[in-house]
Amino acid sequence: KVINVILSGGVGSRLWPLSRKSRPKQYLPIFEGQTLFQKTVSRNLGISEHILVVGSKDNYHLSRKDLEALGENDFTEIIEACPRNTAAAIAFAAFAVSPSDVLFVTPSDHLIQSGEAYASKVNRAIELARDGFIVTFGLKPTRPETGFGYIESDGEEVISFREKPDQQTAESFIAKGNFFWNSGMFCYQAGVFLEELKKSEPEVFDTSKTAFENAENGFLNEGLSLQIPSISVDYAVMEKTDKIKVVPSDFQWSDMGSFESIYDYLKETGHKVDTQGNMVIGTDIHSEFIGLSQTILIQTSDAILVLNKEKAQDVKKVYERLEKEK
Ligand code: GDD
Ligand code: MG
Repeated sequence: KVINVILSGGVGSRLWPLSRKSRPKQYLPIFEGQTLFQKTVSRNLGISEHILVVGSKDNYHLSRKDLEALGENDFTEIIEACPRNTAAAIAFAAFAVSPSDVLFVTPSDHLIQSGEAYASKVNRAIELARDGFIVTFGLKPTRPETGFGYIESDGEEVISFREKPDQQTAESFIAKGNFFWNSGMFCYQAGVFLEELKKSEPEVFDTSKTAFENAENGFLNEGLSLQIPSISVDYAVMEKTDKIKVVPSDFQWSDMGSFESIYDYLKETGHKVDTQGNMVIGTDIHSEFIGLSQTILIQTSDAILVLNKEKAQDVKKVYERLEKEK
């Protein structure tokens, strides 16, 4: 069976104040009236046979609401008491199914053009997963982004996987030309993933297993979860496994991780931008910009953020400061 595992545990701190702990970015209906979570579900319906959501106790009701709005009533949920990062989140999903099931793991916060190009790459990944490989999707990089993983490849063979390089290293990857961005989606048999995790991070494997086995109705126990080392699957498995393959891909893909990507997306889809490239998000109140360019004004019911588009990565710092001051 092919199962779409949807990871939905992140808070989206770089999209504050649109994205809140109580309503993370994947649940904002700002993409043609749909949420990124709903778009993820719809895109994968024809490709997979079952949906398994790994989310958090703060937002699982939002996933449920989104799924029900799409008429999807048959899905599995694993609800985390606290975020322990993606290695553990995927391990929970793998423990919940049978070892030969193929997991198609996807984030819930990406914008991807579905259709033939997408379906054919995913189907190729499923084929490779059935042959026992750990499969990634490689996208052509357009800038030396330091927030992504890179895959050095020769066709479908992977020479190395390098998570979040520094600026200089990222530039050298782009210059070399045989590096892809890691899409953040993965495909493998549940049993193969668990074997690889056990080999490279036995402590994550053991503690996730204990936490999973003691879950009640899909709800994980907080004390046991806190025992799990917080590490992303990219460092825990992808950088280490020798079973890795890549499917070079060309579908349109965008990580809606920052206001810069949201801005680009909204601009392309017809959202208003003034002659200096300024944009207003989240309010119909008439707003004017004087002496400013490439500025984004974001308003919600209880907060306003004004930022220079180029400083989009710094929003995370504001979020972290506010969390500390709470
Ligand atoms: N359930 C759960 N629990 N989900 C989580 C947790 C967790 O503790 N932590 C993160 N997630 C979810 C996020 O909500 C997101 O959907 C997905 O897992 C990936 O996490 P990110 O935190 O967004 O990862 P990233 O963007 O820094 O890096 C990954 O994605 C890049 C592409 O967007 C890596 O795989 C990179 O290699 C990749 O290039
Ligand atoms: Mg991300």
